[in-house]
Amino acid sequence: MAYYIGVDIGTSGTKTVLFDVLGSVIASAAKEYPLYQPHNGYAEQMPQDWEQAVIETLAAVMAKSGVDANEVKGIGLSGQMHGLIMLDANDQVIRPSIIWCDQRTAAECEEITARVGADRLIAITANPALTGFTASKILWVRNHEPENYEKCRHILLPKDYIRFRLTGEYATEVSDASGMQLLDIPNRCWSDEILQKLEIDKSMLGKVYESPEITGLLTAEMAALTGLKAGTPVVGGAGDNAAAAIGTGVAENGKAFTTIGTSGVVFAHSSEISIDPKGRVHTFCCAVPGCWHVMGVTQGAGLSLKWFRDQFCGSEKETAALMGVDEYYLMDKEAECSPIGANRLLYLPYLMGERTPHLDANARGVFFGLSAMHTKRDMLRAVMEGVTYSLRDCLEVFREMQIEVDAMMACGGGGTSKLWRQMLADLYGCPIQTLASKEGPALGVAILAAVGTNAYASVPEACKAIIQTNQTCLPNQEAMTVYEQYYQLYRQIYPALKTQFTALAAL
Ligand code: XUL
Repeated sequence: MAYYIGVDIGTSGTKTVLFDVLGSVIASAAKEYPLYQPHNGYAEQMPQDWEQAVIETLAAVMAKSGVDANEVKGIGLSGQMHGLIMLDANDQVIRPSIIWCDQRTAAECEEITARVGADRLIAITANPALTGFTASKILWVRNHEPENYEKCRHILLPKDYIRFRLTGEYATEVSDASGMQLLDIPNRCWSDEILQKLEIDKSMLGKVYESPEITGLLTAEMAALTGLKAGTPVVGGAGDNAAAAIGTGVAENGKAFTTIGTSGVVFAHSSEISIDPKGRVHTFCCAVPGCWHVMGVTQGAGLSLKWFRDQFCGSEKETAALMGVDEYYLMDKEAECSPIGANRLLYLPYLMGERTPHLDANARGVFFGLSAMHTKRDMLRAVMEGVTYSLRDCLEVFREMQIEVDAMMACGGGGTSKLWRQMLADLYGCPIQTLASKEGPALGVAILAAVGTNAYASVPEACKAIIQTNQTCLPNQEAMTVYEQYYQLYRQIYPALKTQFTALAAL
């Protein structure tokens, strides 16, 4: 039997899973690490912590599974995108990694737009300058820590630092490199124009591969530390969302997934490149060679419900603990008692500003239509509906871009709620499916490892053989008509308040 390993280097921890060739989980191991926030808006992690977690979890899955190391045919890497790792001439880490959610680089984003030009930036990198992306982090180090920038010889992303430690190769792949704002997204290679205009030396960047390609072989030193065989191939892998797409079978046109985690992501596959000229959704190279994906992000999805739970649902928490059930299960039951439209109550989920479609850091949450007759149940339902309206906004941008979606997977914590899945089906107007496997990104990159080492002829073929859906939620015509009226009203509220949000932020 052939086995494949998927390693997912996330923000809260690393998860490593050993799968057989049909995608069944044989063994898994996880290890957490800290996030450092030295100042408000800063977010850093230690690359050495990721490395330790990867070594320990690889060793753990090998020990637990008892699988012969000769049978492990490939390793795939996935991970948090955008983080900056700088190595010196001796391959030592120069400073902690500035990671994706760090917000210190607003001035560098302005610098990037001024140097490149807003239109060229979108035409080449498919995105406006964003604080989360790597290029602005590189410029921040150059502007604020010139002594560190001076020492820098290699720039890597989180999972690509791990690749370097596992194989000795400086390499990346197109899906994760798309989030650096240095890649020519239409042509899937580093952009000489961007690099010249930003004065970044190309020799510092790794070689760019397609996601299933073999990028290097496991070193003898790492083999000894993990129980794997020296020479085991490590394929390109993918950034976390592109990896989750493969792990949910989103590898062909028409297929898409929605994740309701802390933030919400709506992701659709596209065999043709399509860029939103307003930059409201990200267009990135995807893990299927020669294809792209578009991705809308709503900042406060699960976060809105968690906020509501923590502020107002103390009694549900207590009851859930006594009953031995999940508190979100009870909250779902409460929300179900309120009708569609929550008795004429709407919620805007902009607790953390908003990416898609407004790109407005100053936007904030709103309950609209509050009356003395409203109950906590109505407010709960309004929160879930508001998040779903915001996810529908992402889909509307896709439609403007002529990206059609006919099959949607639901993932993340929110995807486990039957009520939320029905809202998605009714507001998207398409069936919502869930999956048998819960391994998302780790499964996605294990599939890429299987394709890269020739167990399957292509990524879509591997997905067809491995990914199994288990439940389908169909849209309800009557509910769709009612939701549509509320959604059209919801769309008018942000434009009416936009100026006031800016004024509020300035107070
Ligand atoms: C993608 C993004 C996150 C990170 C961390 O643009 O910011 O999904 O990859 O998970």
